Amino acid sequence: MVYFDNNATTPLDPQVIERMAAFMRDQFGNPSSLYPLGRQAKESLHEARQHVARALGAAVGDITFTGSGTEADNQALLGVLDARPDRPELVISAIEHPAVQETAVYCERRGVKVTVIPVDRYGSIDMDALDRAVTERTALVSVMHANNEIGTIQPIPEIAALARARGALAHTDAVQSFGKIDVDVNVLGIDLLTVSSHKIYGPKGVGALYVRKGTPLAPFVHGGHQERGLRAGTENTIGIVGFGEAARILPDRMVQDKPRLAALAARLRAGLEQRIPKIHLNGHPANRVPTTLSYSILGLEAEAVLLGLATKGISVSTGSACSEDSDDVSHVLKAIGLRPEFARSTVRISLGRFNTDGDIDTALDVIPGMVEKLRRISAWDPEEIEP
Ligand SMILES: Cc1ncc(COP(=O)(O)O)c(C=O)c1O
Repeated sequence: MVYFDNNATTPLDPQVIERMAAFMRDQFGNPSSLYPLGRQAKESLHEARQHVARALGAAVGDITFTGSGTEADNQALLGVLDARPDRPELVISAIEHPAVQETAVYCERRGVKVTVIPVDRYGSIDMDALDRAVTERTALVSVMHANNEIGTIQPIPEIAALARARGALAHTDAVQSFGKIDVDVNVLGIDLLTVSSHKIYGPKGVGALYVRKGTPLAPFVHGGHQERGLRAGTENTIGIVGFGEAARILPDRMVQDKPRLAALAARLRAGLEQRIPKIHLNGHPANRVPTTLSYSILGLEAEAVLLGLATKGISVSTGSACSEDSDDVSHVLKAIGLRPEFARSTVRISLGRFNTDGDIDTALDVIPGMVEKLRRISAWDPEEIEP
């Protein structure tokens, strides 16, 4: 099997499995209990928080664990808007993940003015439009760091500086950049930042929100005093310990993985672009996560490619895993101005830690032939489509 859908989720790292298994065997205490079993669980949570904080260049007290990246995004948007009733405006980009986009729709229904900033054909945010949109009534600017579908990286330090100069807070969804490129909360200059465990070889169902000390934020889940009152509910100790281990080993692993995976992705790109006529790489040519490859394979339905490759043991996704259940064209591909027939032919290949040279060999053996075969039987004639 060749797994090329690491932006959808990643396998657990063996070290994470080992750490979680040991914890599951020995520890079942409630971190809120005062006897030793509870104290040990609390200490394990603290260690996990330290690991996540260190990987983000953050202070340990600024990390709140959540039930997912989606929940952290919800907490950021709703929590800031709730805490700043004098500023009833929200600014987001046109290519946010549904976790932000749909939360903004919900906010709009509750009377918040939402401004959506367009992006250019590479998926880079329109900084002039952002400049016009952020006012003294803006509570929060939320722009994602790296896009999950096309890999484009946004200039977060500039975006955050613009927001903060007008008294607005800055949030970034870093779910798709954490573990792939350097993510440091101080370099980025943001107030809030979202990450998710299952994109960095940790377990699913755990995320974290970085909240810079002093940031006004209302609780999102109400109840007990867990997570400093921001997120009530007995902590997912096993998941958090796994997330902590994934974050602990991340900086060292990235030293090896970043250049190795960039080289693998470059070889795959060169091979595909050489062997398959009329394919178009989406996203920014330079400001991109190298392991996220979004290709429009003209003349084909992406789903046919996905299913064809699945029969050969290669897992890829169509434009976005999150929209695979619906017939809608991805809002990201729409926002970069792709024509619907291009968008429908878009396949996402995303590499990760466990991909090997052999996987690239297999992909280059299988994908060009599969595309040629599908194009032969397809009703579309690629020659008729103007790029
Ligand atoms: C950019 C981005 N934000 C948020 C999420 C949601 O994270 P989670 O799956 O932990 O809810 C994802 C997951 O695909 C994502 O790619």
